[in-house]
Amino acid sequence: MEEAAATEMRALGQVFAHATAFADTMLLKLAVQLGLADIIHAHTQKNPEGITLTQLAKSLPLDQVNINNLSRIMGCMVRMGLFSMSTTSQGQEDLFKPTHSSEFILKDGKKSILPLIMPVMQEWAISPWHFLDVALDGNKKNLTPFEKKHGCKLWEAFSKQPMMGMMFYEAMKAETMALIPEVIKVCEVTFQRIGSLIDVGGATGIGASSIAAQFPHVKCSVLDRPDVVALAKFAGCPNVEFLAGDMFTSIPHADALLLKKILHDWGDDECLKILQRCKETLPKGGGTVIIVEAVMDKEMDGDDAWSRVKMANDMGMMVFTGGKERTAEEWKVLLASAGFDIYKITPIMVGHSVIEAHPLP
Ligand SMILES: C[S@@+](CC[C@H](N)C(=O)[O-])C[C@H]1O[C@@H](n2cnc3c(N)ncnc32)[C@H](O)[C@@H]1O
Repeated sequence: MEEAAATEMRALGQVFAHATAFADTMLLKLAVQLGLADIIHAHTQKNPEGITLTQLAKSLPLDQVNINNLSRIMGCMVRMGLFSMSTTSQGQEDLFKPTHSSEFILKDGKKSILPLIMPVMQEWAISPWHFLDVALDGNKKNLTPFEKKHGCKLWEAFSKQPMMGMMFYEAMKAETMALIPEVIKVCEVTFQRIGSLIDVGGATGIGASSIAAQFPHVKCSVLDRPDVVALAKFAGCPNVEFLAGDMFTSIPHADALLLKKILHDWGDDECLKILQRCKETLPKGGGTVIIVEAVMDKEMDGDDAWSRVKMANDMGMMVFTGGKERTAEEWKVLLASAGFDIYKITPIMVGHSVIEAHPLP
């Protein structure tokens, strides 16, 4: 093929691939629904050669399995890297085995990320993306695609539809459990020096509770919306005090404030209001805000998996809350305009950073 024609075919393929990318999401969701990774992992622990299609069909939670469709679906999942495939020694049947990727979608595996990925694959989370255009409408500045679809803001939807809220807060809890040991490492000196901390928008309290467990001299509290606090009190974090309130109105006094995944939910104007409330309540000289957020790369030019995830997360903030992910430069500008001095940005795991800042006099 001529070079120009080959270039055109590649470009055409790229556009079709974008148009059909949702198929990957739906196949991943199906793999989770059927517990395919759990079945294949459990089987191959006893039978290292793998599981045949017939054996797999028998293990599915279905009375009757359409074996031809199962074969096609498994072929797609192999292409996606979720499983690997070979054939039996007699070459009669396909054999499926786990991959590195399938370890992440085990129900009880140590590496399982199911609580993190299940909410984003639900119908209620996917449907607002159909209204991405409303985010462009300058006349409807505060209307998010989520609100257009569901008729209320994300936080209200979680209190009205507890199943949605439960899934979301489970995801936040899983993410916090993964990140908080790194946050503690980075902020150890700060935690040793302070007497009190409020986890602003701290949800079920797992972050504050982990800090309280390692630094018992720090009085740890969680400030969140009244409906979240009502639920969080039953989440089993006894070493934490829960405070129902509104971070835009006032934040009780503490030596340090933790804002994990809070500011990315909001546009710059709202962030400035939250940071002003933080500044008002922190001790002058010595108070600290600890921000835990993704820090975006300046250029969004990568085509690797993580670049695409970062891009989707940033667009997700636009869809769900009207917020945004920020670059290091944007964090610096935002904090400076709220009267904070950035002390340090420390990258931790999977694109996240800990940003420590002090109020300027
Ligand atoms: C993305 S979640 C982050 C939860 C937690 N910090 C974490 O990282 O796991 C945002 C949190 O902000 C809370 N929130 C939203 N609006 C709030 C407000 N006006 N005052 C206090 N908390 C609020 C939500 O209820 C939610 O728990």
